[in-house]
Amino acid sequence: MSAQRQETVKRFAAPDIAARKGGVPVVCLTAYTAPMAELLDEHCDLMLVGDSVGMVVHGLPNTVGVTLEMMILHGQAVMRTARRAMVVVDMPFGSYEGAPEIAYANAARIMKETGCQAVKVESGPTVVDTIEYLVKRGIPVMGHVGLRPQAVNVDGGFKAKGKGADERARILAEAKATAAAGAFAVVVEGVAEGLAREITEAIGVPTIGIGASSGCDGQILVTDDMLGLFDWTPKFVRRYADLRGEISKAVAGYAEDVRQRRFPGPAEIYFAKAG
Ligand code: KIV
Repeated sequence: MSAQRQETVKRFAAPDIAARKGGVPVVCLTAYTAPMAELLDEHCDLMLVGDSVGMVVHGLPNTVGVTLEMMILHGQAVMRTARRAMVVVDMPFGSYEGAPEIAYANAARIMKETGCQAVKVESGPTVVDTIEYLVKRGIPVMGHVGLRPQAVNVDGGFKAKGKGADERARILAEAKATAAAGAFAVVVEGVAEGLAREITEAIGVPTIGIGASSGCDGQILVTDDMLGLFDWTPKFVRRYADLRGEISKAVAGYAEDVRQRRFPGPAEIYFAKAG
């Protein structure tokens, strides 16, 4: 590739995010489309093409039905406009749990076909070996402990974790094992107050919290939640906008203008050339 075609903006990579441990909090949001990624890019250190795309964009009841093809398609869309933020693509349910070799083939496919900088896996005890296998073969991995949405059928719903001592100890151990296996950062989702801080103090890579208190090295939210695109959001989401209300108002205005023949007006039509 010629020097002219190199990116001019320096993009965050796994070592840059890892180096933020204990420093300025890492700003992360989910992104699934090119226009949203373009808007988020200048504000975020890391954008996650989360498998939450299945629920947020495709109307699935949970993330279990999300496929590798869906993740690749959305990863490609985000990578077309992301310039500065690190882009991490979620490995969907069924694409990495079976064996490290299968995980490697699927992770390599995600990275080759999207150009993203890392993948994320939900770390259970059996996934730790896979994280090590991927990292040793050149694939940066972000872990994910606590509430693991892909385990919804085992858990019987999306429930906050770490309320009892045994579960707290298990999640802490999983976070330590995930970091020891080489993950460059670990998402900590939906855990009882205090556990995220304990994990943050116990591991040497940044913790990225979602519903996990401010005791983390960074935060992530589902962008559509924080923009107010849904009528219901989980307790841990702070809404920074009411786009649902704004969109509804805009569409009602358009519908009324069309019905009243006020749209299109003279400014919105083409005129033939005189003569
Ligand atoms: O899929 C997702 O969006 C996630 C984040 C919310 C952490 O895993």
